[in-house]
Amino acid sequence: MGETMTDENERDVDRLSRDHKELADTYHRVLLLIVDRQADQAEELLDEFAARLTRHIELEEKIWVPLFHQRFGKSKGFDGTLILQEHKVIDKLLGALRFLLHTMAARGKPLDAQQVLTLLEESFRFRGVLHHHHAREDNVMIPALREIAPPG
Ligand SMILES: [Fe+2]
Ligand SMILES: [Fe+2]
Repeated sequence: MGETMTDENERDVDRLSRDHKELADTYHRVLLLIVDRQADQAEELLDEFAARLTRHIELEEKIWVPLFHQRFGKSKGFDGTLILQEHKVIDKLLGALRFLLHTMAARGKPLDAQQVLTLLEESFRFRGVLHHHHAREDNVMIPALREIAPPG
C-alpha cells in the first residue's frame, strides 16, 4: 500500500488527488495484465485496486462530500448528492468487471483473445466513468475544499 493511503493524512484534502493518481496507475497495471492474458494476477491486482478505491470513497463520504455539500450547495455546478450518485455507479460497474474477471480467472487458463477483448471493453467503460468522476473532484470539489479550513 502507498503511504498516501494511510489514515494520518485523512484530513489533508490534497490526499484525495494523490489517491486518484495512484488509483489510475494501479488500474493501468491491471489493464496491462489483462492484455498479457494473466487472469490470476489481473484479478489479484483488481482486488487490491477495489480495496483502495473503497477506502478512498469511504474517506470522501465520511469527511469531504458532506463538507462540500454543506458549504457550497450547488454553487459550484453540482452538490454532494451527485458525487454520491456517481460513487454508486462506480461501485456497480466495478462489481460487474470484477465478477467478469473472476469468472474468467476461475477457468485456470490464460485468457483467450475474445476474453481479453471483452474484458477491455468493460474495463474502458469503467475507466471512462472513473476518470470523469475524478476530474470533477480534482477540478471543482477539491479546489473548493482547499479554500476553506480543514475539518475537525
Ligand atoms: Fe469520489
Ligand atoms: Fe475521489
